[in-house]
Amino acid sequence: MNTPVTPSSSPTPAHTLPRIAVLATGGTIAGAAPDATNTAGYQAGVIGVGQLLDAVPGLGAIARIHAEQVASIDSKDMPLALWTQLAQRVNALLASDDVDGVVITHGTDTLEETAYLLHLTVKGTKPVVMTAAMRPASALSADGPLNLLNAVTVAANAAAGQGVLVAFNNRIHCARDVTKVSTYAVDAFQSPEVGALGWVQDGRVEFQRRALRPHTVDSAFVIGAQWPQVEIVASYAGVSRAAVDALVVAGVRGIVVAGTGNGSLHATLQQALADAAAQGVAIVRASRTGSGHVMRNGAAQDGALGFVSAGTLNPYKARVLLMLALAAGHAGAAALQQVFDTY
Ligand code: SIN
Repeated sequence: MNTPVTPSSSPTPAHTLPRIAVLATGGTIAGAAPDATNTAGYQAGVIGVGQLLDAVPGLGAIARIHAEQVASIDSKDMPLALWTQLAQRVNALLASDDVDGVVITHGTDTLEETAYLLHLTVKGTKPVVMTAAMRPASALSADGPLNLLNAVTVAANAAAGQGVLVAFNNRIHCARDVTKVSTYAVDAFQSPEVGALGWVQDGRVEFQRRALRPHTVDSAFVIGAQWPQVEIVASYAGVSRAAVDALVVAGVRGIVVAGTGNGSLHATLQQALADAAAQGVAIVRASRTGSGHVMRNGAAQDGALGFVSAGTLNPYKARVLLMLALAAGHAGAAALQQVFDTY
């Protein structure tokens, strides 16, 4: 079903415009380089939210903006405590009668992880839209201002109950599916296999589909301050068991493995993971391929060794779900598989 939303031709009185909270966390969208032709040698997260908003013409005709600087970081350095703080702040804003939607500016590098975390833990049906940029604010043809304009446009116009959305390069993605696919291209985000939910351009917002898996108010997960340690390892030619054994000694609660192809594992790594599972470490098989799903391999592998299949979640999103599931008290391969089959 297509759901077009086109702004009316007569300007909306300012006092009736949607009230959108913009939370800034840093990233390249708030980055600055020594000169305008430098798009790689910049410092992320140095420009404040006021300056970001000032660079966007026409925002005042779309929404009444309330801005907050939540953090000023390069998202590669995202600490788990900031996830907790951000989710709690979004929940507080969604609960307020003075807020109609939330926009979050973020670095591109870990945006997909934060987006999925919020998708599963924020409790509200008002739009929550994340955005970012590939070029710093100081760059020639910086993409941040248009992405921010589009994110606010989506937050002001999207129907309720669509979970956390990512507005980037004119497309609207579901937080569960979106992933960064380029180190440099302005069109850096895709939702492999399933595609974007819709698009936004020149004030028009159109959705072509909806997310089916539970999120936000339908998700059983809540944000907490405790994060069980879950790490990621990969399977590759000649891999040893050293990383897995070290993680078990370090006391991890879970390991996500980025397997080859359909989450398949080098025999050496598989034995190390089976030994870890036997000691109570939750093992989730994902794929390093970047798209497709990991089929549960009952008798030969998952069932026999106590592993869980990540389905269509990439390793980084699978880690988010596994942390939330372990924090919520889910234990054992069967219970965890149920979680992965549901979310
Ligand atoms: C970051 O993730 O904070 C830096 C990279 C980016 O935003 O593109």
